[in-house]
Amino acid sequence: MEDITRRDLLHKTINSLIGLWVAATSVLSGYAGIRYIWPTEKTAGPPGEKKISFPIVELQEGGMKKILIDGKPAGIIRHNSKLYGLSLICTHLGCIVSWHPEEKRLICPCHAGIYDINGAVLGGPPPRPLPSYEVREIGDKVVVG
Ligand code: FES
Repeated sequence: MEDITRRDLLHKTINSLIGLWVAATSVLSGYAGIRYIWPTEKTAGPPGEKKISFPIVELQEGGMKKILIDGKPAGIIRHNSKLYGLSLICTHLGCIVSWHPEEKRLICPCHAGIYDINGAVLGGPPPRPLPSYEVREIGDKVVVG
């Protein structure tokens, strides 16, 4: 039988702790990434839900709020006090596009597809514009769909 020295035991313990730390960090990073991509339940409509509303105060001027419409990611953008509702699914191969307020563009991280604030293709491989959603401001709420 192999003798285990104190040094070996210490090394194994440290390696195990490092492994646990890496695993925990990976799980937490993955969770944070999923929370970033998928919106909160409050604005997440289940499949079949085509009408979503949320308080207007949740949408800053120049910002975008991510929601789910019919189970699919969409973004509501407020720019110059006007509201825009767009699918966030790139029409090229389906990656999730992100809003870049400083450029007033949506950019796909996968192959650099570029869309304007109306969803029109400005560059890259996307073959079609982003589908849009009807967005209205009713009282203190934003109603989509
Ligand atoms: S998936 Fe968006 S540009 Fe290719």
